Amino acid sequence: MRYITIALAKGRLAKQTMELFESFGISCEEMKDPGSRKLIFTNEEWRLKFFLSKASDVPTFVEYGAADIGIVGKDTLLEEGRKLYEVLDLELGKCRMCVAGPALAKKLLEHGDLIRVATKYPAIAKDYFYNKKHQTVEIIKLNGSVELAPIVGLSEVIVDIVETGSTLRENGLDVLEEICPLSARVVVNQVSMKMEQERVNKLISGLQSELQKRKQN
Ligand code: PRP
Repeated sequence: MRYITIALAKGRLAKQTMELFESFGISCEEMKDPGSRKLIFTNEEWRLKFFLSKASDVPTFVEYGAADIGIVGKDTLLEEGRKLYEVLDLELGKCRMCVAGPALAKKLLEHGDLIRVATKYPAIAKDYFYNKKHQTVEIIKLNGSVELAPIVGLSEVIVDIVETGSTLRENGLDVLEEICPLSARVVVNQVSMKMEQERVNKLISGLQSELQKRKQN
């Protein structure tokens, strides 16, 4: 029997996902070794392979079939725009994609001014401003600490993830508009969905019923 390969976005989400798998009998002891630099792990009993990759690469591995299944945030799925099936919301890592900035910038958004928008998510920002708001803006791609941009005068607003809101608060910025809610999703390669339907569905319904159980407790 061939292996079903599962790509996990490394970090907290991978750990939480493995806890979900473990609760219905799929474990991977090797993965828990904190000193290990290993990237790929096997569960022989279920004929599964798990690998850890950078979140933004998970949709790529899944689209090309290098992974049958992927677990990754909705933010990454929207930004990467890959062809795959999104089959389950794990409701882990819940947060929001927002437009944020100093309170004064709210007026600029309302008037549809030509403003600069700094973000790690240029595709999401472009879709929001161009297709939903029909506002022409200049999008500036950054790679982190995006909150700096309006403070140092690089942009009027930012498009970024807000979880607790404390990064914004501590930097004197507010949520100005909400783009969409985010959480971790299970995605499946389009061919695997047909060719490995039974095994893929078994894994998905295992995750699903574990989530249900958790909700009831
Ligand atoms: C994310 C996001 C915000 C922060 C939001 O950053 O880009 O900066 O978390 O969380 P909060 O609302 O709970 O404060 P991340 O930690 O991923 O780092 P980076 O964007 O600076 O790389």
